[in-house]
Amino acid sequence: MMKKIHLIFTLSLTTLVLSSFYQTFDLKASMQRGKTIYEAQCMSCHMAEGEGLEGVFPPLAKTDYLNDKNRLVKVVLRGVRGPMKINGVEYNGEMAGFSLNDDEVSDVLNYIRNSWGNKGVPILPTEIQPALKATTKDYQPY
Ligand code: HEC
Repeated sequence: MMKKIHLIFTLSLTTLVLSSFYQTFDLKASMQRGKTIYEAQCMSCHMAEGEGLEGVFPPLAKTDYLNDKNRLVKVVLRGVRGPMKINGVEYNGEMAGFSLNDDEVSDVLNYIRNSWGNKGVPILPTEIQPALKATTKDYQPY
């Protein structure tokens, strides 16, 4: 009985802490900073509306690739190469990684995951380093 109460207490405390954390995270401000980074570092290839260039630079608008946050963090920091199929189109190029700090990675990902019709939960700066360590299948760094 005590164990159960303890478990319930721990679970509700965790939920409370997590939800207050997400509430205090200002997604709008993060996206605003991310837009500046996007325009300076990503837009030349992925284009103003995230539409990319068919067959050359994959789109970031309306792609299910953006769901996997561990992969996204690696793509931005370590780059990516190898064949990929995005929205039915094959890409086989390469993209070098960027040197951005954890806040900047969080901001630029929050921007692309919540623009042009995309909708994703915020990626917090504290999630960047753990994401780099997580295993991701079918991923080749630059
Ligand atoms: C010089 C051009 C260029 C720039 C600048 C660039 N990318 Fe890319 N990006 C590419 C190419 C090419 C690919 C596809 C690589 C492949 O086919 O393996 C790609 C792929 C991607 C993917 C999908 C890859 C996957 O495996 O999920 C994401 C997400 C992405 N880029 C985000 C970004 C972000 C964010 C920035 C800015 C910080 C950025 N890119 C800057 C060229 C670029």
